[in-house]
Amino acid sequence: MRRKLIVVSNRGPVSFSRNDGGERVAKRGGGGLVTALRGLLALHDVTWIASAISDEDRALAEDTLDESTRDGPPFRLRFVAHEEQAYDWFYNVVSNPMLWFIQHHLWELAYAPVIDRSFHTAWDDGYAAVNAEFASAVLEELDREPDAAVFFHDYHLYLAPRLVREQRPDATLAHFVHIPWPQPDAWQVLPERMRVALHDGLLANDVIGFHSDRWRRNFVHSARELLGEEADARTITAAISVDPTEFDELASSPAVLAAEREIAARRPEKLIVRVDRTDPSKNIVRGFRAFELYLAAHPEMRRRVSMLALLDPSRQHIPEYAEYLGALQREARRVNDRFQEDGWTPIDLQIEDDFPRSVAAYKQFDVLLVNAIFDGMNLVAKEAPLVNERNGVVVLSENAGAHAELGEWVVSVNPFDVEGQAEAIHRALQMGEDERAQRLSATCAHVRSNDVHAWIERQLAALDGLAATTRR
Ligand code: F6P
Repeated sequence: MRRKLIVVSNRGPVSFSRNDGGERVAKRGGGGLVTALRGLLALHDVTWIASAISDEDRALAEDTLDESTRDGPPFRLRFVAHEEQAYDWFYNVVSNPMLWFIQHHLWELAYAPVIDRSFHTAWDDGYAAVNAEFASAVLEELDREPDAAVFFHDYHLYLAPRLVREQRPDATLAHFVHIPWPQPDAWQVLPERMRVALHDGLLANDVIGFHSDRWRRNFVHSARELLGEEADARTITAAISVDPTEFDELASSPAVLAAEREIAARRPEKLIVRVDRTDPSKNIVRGFRAFELYLAAHPEMRRRVSMLALLDPSRQHIPEYAEYLGALQREARRVNDRFQEDGWTPIDLQIEDDFPRSVAAYKQFDVLLVNAIFDGMNLVAKEAPLVNERNGVVVLSENAGAHAELGEWVVSVNPFDVEGQAEAIHRALQMGEDERAQRLSATCAHVRSNDVHAWIERQLAALDGLAATTRR
């Protein structure tokens, strides 16, 4: 059934700029959320509300655009242009790092965060103000299409659903949280009015989705502890996934083949790959340390193995992120200084947003290292096996949402245990061909039958099943 949907997310499916010739050009929005949601566009009648991020997006914000994805189906796109200061507080002070850091357990609580006057201002005049602007845009779209279901996404928008609900008690509202939900005490970092407001905002939805049961249960627990609300019946677990046909096509595309030739020409006998945003939650520094321990314990493997780290620079206006990028560069340098020899660099660190290169590395890995501290899902762990051509083994953090699905076929690691990660690398590199092939094909079969369309269908079915009976 074709449905009317209003998708609401901070980052939109495209962002616009002007090229040197002054023409408007569209760039596909980054991140797993946007990629996965694009699957909705072909099947449903979608209006997408997103923040205007570039100057050109702002210029377009007055109108609702009729867009189409590259050779894709049409949808309506509405940019919300926020006041610059408000958006800075919303994105760079409250959403990331504060909410992101709480939900990924990243604070060193002896020192940070400090909730001072300026944070209160950032909350009220930034996070709450931007959420109110999103809510107004949703209300206008609901005036136009009163029957449309609203799909909010992620931690940027915890307050908006309550504002919409107050004005439209009968609207169908769903929210998907793409990052981990921590246990209730983690929220004690925030003053009561803030932690209550964000739980209350989420609970204004008919359906609240999470990637794994672990995050869903934590939410139910924290709604009970903080607000005394029983949320169980309104929550669902729906694991985000990828479009396997997209990766099948990408794997043989000219850009990927060119990048693959380069990687193949430089690689030693064994290649460990990691592909991440430069986010503290991704645990890149400990990953380099683990590789160092592996090389120290296995001198026979020096020159025969290297680590290719393809890292997309992320959120660099936030000091914690800029510092983390510096820290991981220092760590890679330290490991390289310790071990490198003529013609062999243990860690090949490439800091660049280059998706074709990432897919090429997916094809070439013998070991894929995903050692996130905490991660809502981690799509790299699902994407890379699909195109891998070397019976590669995935070494996967037990704290990534993907672990709940792929646990039996990966080599599991505790993200803090660098010794354990070094041993896991050894185990993966030593594993016999048959076992590696078996694990890889079981992983691929799982991802192919639990693809992004299944994720979307699960949510729509939940709306059909739950919205009518539990709306509030
Ligand atoms: O859900 C997490 C997420 O919003 C994903 O969409 C994406 O992987 C990433 O974070 C993008 O972050 P940003 O929009 O801040 O670059």
